[in-house]
Amino acid sequence: MDKLVVKGGARLKGRVNISGSKNSALPILAATLLTPETCIIHNVPDLSDIRFMLEILAQLGAKVTFENGTVTTRAEKVITEVPYDLVRKMRASICVLGPMIARCGQATISEPGGCSIGDRPIDIHLKGLAELGAESHTQGGNVFIPKANLVGKEIFLGGKFGSTVLGTDNVMMAATRAKGLTIIESAACEPEVRDLAEFLRKMGAKIVGQGTRRIEIEGVDALGGVEHTVIPDRIEAGTFMIGALITQGDVLLAGADPDHLVNVIDRMKSCGAHMKCGPEGIHVSTSRKLSSIDLVTETYPGFPTDMQAQLCALMSVTPGISAITEKIFPSRFMHLSELRRMGARVELEGATAILHGVDHLSGAPVMASDLRASAALVLAGLVAHGTTEVNRVYHIDRGYEHIDEKLRALGADIQRVR
Ligand code: EPU
Repeated sequence: MDKLVVKGGARLKGRVNISGSKNSALPILAATLLTPETCIIHNVPDLSDIRFMLEILAQLGAKVTFENGTVTTRAEKVITEVPYDLVRKMRASICVLGPMIARCGQATISEPGGCSIGDRPIDIHLKGLAELGAESHTQGGNVFIPKANLVGKEIFLGGKFGSTVLGTDNVMMAATRAKGLTIIESAACEPEVRDLAEFLRKMGAKIVGQGTRRIEIEGVDALGGVEHTVIPDRIEAGTFMIGALITQGDVLLAGADPDHLVNVIDRMKSCGAHMKCGPEGIHVSTSRKLSSIDLVTETYPGFPTDMQAQLCALMSVTPGISAITEKIFPSRFMHLSELRRMGARVELEGATAILHGVDHLSGAPVMASDLRASAALVLAGLVAHGTTEVNRVYHIDRGYEHIDEKLRALGADIQRVR
C-alpha cells in the first residue's frame, strides 16, 4: 500500500492548476445513463472514484472511454441491477438510482452502508423517489424498485441535517422523465447540483431554479446526447488554499472559481489571509500566522464540511483557541486523534473541535481514515518538524488528482513510497 512521506518546513509558492470537480463529475457520469445517445464530458479528474464510476457505467451496459480528461459514454441499453460489490466501494454510486428509474422504470441497488465520516442513510432519496411514483422496499440489504410510473409532484427534500446533495441529484434526474411538473423544495444549492442541472438542460431537460432552494423540473419524453465541461473542484482549491496559509506561502489557485468559495475566502480573510480573485483564479498568501476562528460547517453557501478537517489542521498551529463545529456529519472527526499524535492540542465537545493553537507540530506516522482526513494530515505534515508518514493513501487518491506532484511543484518535500 502506498504512503506519502512529507518533510515539513517548506513554504508553498507558485501556481497550481485546479482539476475538475469530483463531486460534479460523479453524478454527471451517472446522468449519462438517461440517454441512449453519446455524451462527451471534459475536465473529468483522473481519480479512483471516477474510474470506479466508469466501471459501474460499463457494468450497467454503457460503452465508456476515458482519455486526457475526457469521458465519452454511450448507453444504448441499461441493465437495472447494481450489486453490493459495486456500491460498497463507493457510496456515491447511489446516484445511478435516479437515472436507472427514469430510463428503465425499475432498479435494484444495494443499500450503501455507513462510512468513516458517519451514518449516511438514503431515506430522503427513497422518500423523494417514492413521491414521484417509484415506491421501494428493502430486503437482504437491497433496495428494490420494481415498477415506477413517474408523475411530477411538489416534494420537500429537507432532513434533520438540512438538504441532501446526492438526494437532490437523484430526484432531479428521475423527475426529468416524470409526467408533468416536479418541484423540489429545500433542494441542495451546491455548485455541483447546479452543474448537474446544466448538464441535464443540455440533454433537453426542462429545469429552472438550480442553485436555489426550489428547483422546478418539467418532465420530457426523451433526453439526448450532450457535450459538457465539468466545473473546477472547489474543495481541491480550498485544500491548496489552506496549504498556502498553513505554510505562510503564496499560491495562485489557477482555474478556481471564487464564486464557489465565497464563504471560505471570506472566513480566511477575516483570519488575516490575503486573497485576490481575478480571471486566472484565486491568489492566496500570508506572511504571518493567522488568527483563530469560531466556525460552523453548513450546506452551501456556508463553510463546507469537506474542508472541516483541513481547517482543523490549519487551526492546530494558529495562535489562540478555535472552535470548529460540524453540522453536516457530526462524527466526522477521525482526523483529530491523528493530529493529536502530531502534537495538536485538541478536545472534542459534542460535534465541536476545540483547538488550542500550538507553536509547532511534530512529524509522526499517521493513518488516513477518509479522503478529507488524509488531506488534513498531509497539510499538517507540511508544517510539522521532521517527517510525517501518511499511510492508507488510497483514501487521498479517491479525491485529489496527483496531489503529491502538485505539492512538489509548489516546493513541498513530499514523496510517494510504493
Ligand atoms: N442524509 C440523510 N438522509 C439521506 C441523505 C442524507 O439523513 O437520505 C444526511 C447525511 O447523513 C448528512 C446530510 O444529510 O448528515 C447531508 O448529506 P448529503 O446527502 O448532502 O451528502 P451526500 O450527497 O451523500 C455529498 C458529497 C460529500 C459531501 C456531502 C455534503 C458527493 C459524491 N459527495 O455527499 O462529499 O460531504 O455531499 O456536502 O457529492 C467528499 O467529497 O469528501 C464527500 C464526502
